[in-house]
Amino acid sequence: MIPITIVGVGAMGEALIHGLKHHYTISAYNAGDNARLRAVASKTPITPCMDDASRIHALGVCAAVIVACKPHHVPEALRFLAPHIRPHTVVISVAAGVSIASIASYVPDGQPIVRAMPNTSCALRKGVTAWCARAHVPPMVRTLFDTLGFAIEVQETHMHAVTAISGSGPAYVYAMMEALIAAAERLGIPDAHALVAHTAAGAAQRVLEGAQPKHLRTAVTSPNGTTAAALAVLAPLGGLIDRAVDAAIARGQEMEAEIGGTP
Ligand SMILES: NC(=O)c1ccc[n+]([C@@H]2O[C@H](COP(=O)([O-])OP(=O)(O)OC[C@H]3O[C@@H](n4cnc5c(N)ncnc54)[C@H](OP(=O)(O)O)[C@@H]3O)[C@@H](O)[C@H]2O)c1
Repeated sequence: MIPITIVGVGAMGEALIHGLKHHYTISAYNAGDNARLRAVASKTPITPCMDDASRIHALGVCAAVIVACKPHHVPEALRFLAPHIRPHTVVISVAAGVSIASIASYVPDGQPIVRAMPNTSCALRKGVTAWCARAHVPPMVRTLFDTLGFAIEVQETHMHAVTAISGSGPAYVYAMMEALIAAAERLGIPDAHALVAHTAAGAAQRVLEGAQPKHLRTAVTSPNGTTAAALAVLAPLGGLIDRAVDAAIARGQEMEAEIGGTP
């Protein structure tokens, strides 16, 4: 199996470990939180690197290093790893708002660089990853993202937009499900959680199979029926989602400016 190193085992790093653990040999480290690293290592087949010597060894033998720390910690993480990786090791950053140009300023010239935006469903290998690269990258990059679910290569200029759609998207779906569960509980329906989860999964499956949501929605909405009554209340949803996505994009641009996305 191909060796990879994950730098930063928080929410995203752990999701990546779960998604990749059966297909890659994974080493991983945190800056100081060895307790979290130990906890993840106790339930997944990773090599936890608890000291600099083991971190440097892992960096020196891996085919790709995935940087999954908070954006403002990325410079420190890159400064540490840069002297220890081989020239063909792919540096993959999943940090929001950190540009390829910024990453390039910390690693040796010519190092393959990938900027990616996965989401936490990668843990189940049902994630979405949008990614872009500075230049040619080895086929293993595409294979790695395909392992995590659906993956799409985009222009770097689209990264804020895909972050607002698929990066943050699971949270929008969870908010909708949360509201439906609360409504079901208010109405005293037993097992509201399962009722809503299966409703969402079934609906998503129809769309995954290729049907258009608009067609599906029309098909289940009889004129003057119960669904029509509910959808009349939800009429502002399209506009609201537009505003939500624009707010996410604006925040991403602000964060990029704060951390100096491009040096
Ligand atoms: N969460 C999401 O849904 C999501 C989705 C897409 C992308 N992302 C991106 O993923 C990145 C991580 O987000 P998160 O939510 O997983 O954050 P998090 O839970 O705070 O985890 C970040 C981890 O990075 C470690 N770390 C910090 N500095 C480090 C360094 N210099 N070297 C090695 N490890 C270091 C931290 O360990 P210590 O505690 O030891 O410092 C921590 O365990 C962010 O850049 C975010 O933009 C997140």
